[in-house]
Amino acid sequence: MTTSRISGFYNMTLDERRAKLADAAALTPPDLAAWTSGGISAEAADHMIENVVGMHSLPLGIALNFMVNGKDVLVPMTLEEPSVVAGASFMAKLARAGGGYQATTTDPLMIGQMQVINVTNLNEAKLKIYEKKAELLAEADSIDPILKKFGGGARDLEVRIFNDSPIGGFLVVHLIYDVRDAMGANAVNTACERLAPKIEAITGGKVHLRILSNLADRRIARARCTIPVKSLAFDNFSGEQVRDGIIAAYAFAAVDPYRAATHNKGIMNGVDSVVIATGNDWRAIEAGAHAYAVKNGQYTSLSTWGKDSEGNLVGTLEMPMAVGIVGGATKVHPAAQAAVKLMGVKTANELAEIIVSVGLAQNMAALRALATEGIQRGHMSLHARQVAIAAGASGDMVEKVAAQMVAEKVVRIDRAEEILKSL
Ligand code: MEV
Repeated sequence: MTTSRISGFYNMTLDERRAKLADAAALTPPDLAAWTSGGISAEAADHMIENVVGMHSLPLGIALNFMVNGKDVLVPMTLEEPSVVAGASFMAKLARAGGGYQATTTDPLMIGQMQVINVTNLNEAKLKIYEKKAELLAEADSIDPILKKFGGGARDLEVRIFNDSPIGGFLVVHLIYDVRDAMGANAVNTACERLAPKIEAITGGKVHLRILSNLADRRIARARCTIPVKSLAFDNFSGEQVRDGIIAAYAFAAVDPYRAATHNKGIMNGVDSVVIATGNDWRAIEAGAHAYAVKNGQYTSLSTWGKDSEGNLVGTLEMPMAVGIVGGATKVHPAAQAAVKLMGVKTANELAEIIVSVGLAQNMAALRALATEGIQRGHMSLHARQVAIAAGASGDMVEKVAAQMVAEKVVRIDRAEEILKSL
């Protein structure tokens, strides 16, 4: 059984941390090597995109203390921003006292869209498509035998009418496809392209676009946590003060899109970093999240914060989560493979459940800081380390220079240079 609690991890060297992970999650030397080297060679990269000239690295950190659905999990996070890994780990520790994160997912249903233009009678064409629904679904279902073998395939067909658009009226056919452990873009796009001639024959129109929708609102991940109010107390803040501060911060995001954008950005700090670590398409996840956040007409918070009957803090997060574990970069990038292995996930839904839990933890970390001491204090010491490195510090000197700048409350490169010289 993996444990996500590793004491002293923060103070270990990189090699010691890797050794701990190897113990905790049965990672092999090649798995760990993928992280040491960044994972792919320039030659492999050259096959991934066009006009490759080199590589671009980001740090990979491990969030500790996470328990999702009763199971400990070590969470790989790839991002450039300080405080995020520490914040998520700390909130996961507080959440453990309330049983960790409870997370669920819907079936992994993606939506493929076909835009049908040049249709004479939209209502008639819509009903004609429904009359042939079984046939169309059977055709779509037969396209990907591997997906079908694993229990996926075409599930439903829906027809929508847009009467008023810059080009007049048109139809949109939605193909609902269970993509199991894939992200699903390939399967869905292929299915839409395959159905297009049949839809044209049925409607007499022309199928124009055939592409999946990133508003994956049939593929939702949900997480909740309960934080015992007592455990929220720190410094001069009582647990009740912190709880009510977080709830008031949430209320701001619930009603004001300007705040909601930032609030959701904090959620995405957690979500994207795991999505990237696992080689998934973070632009798809971003697009889906923000489109979902405005589903009721006004852009709002993806999460909610309130209290239970005993006064404990309760958080929830619900958002689309189109991630896979079997295709694309997840499959070919050894660092992404190691990330999936570290978490021990066997299905895309399990991965989605972890990601949404990390998003909720990250959101809480930001709100807790904002509602109490402000965001800068926590940021300062990590920021100071980056400034120290930029000033030329290395090894032990990084911590020493950073600590002195924090103590002086002056975190600037010129001061870092002076301190470095004096040391
Ligand atoms: C910074 O990357 C994220 C925050 O702005 C999120 C928030 O304001 O809730 C701290």
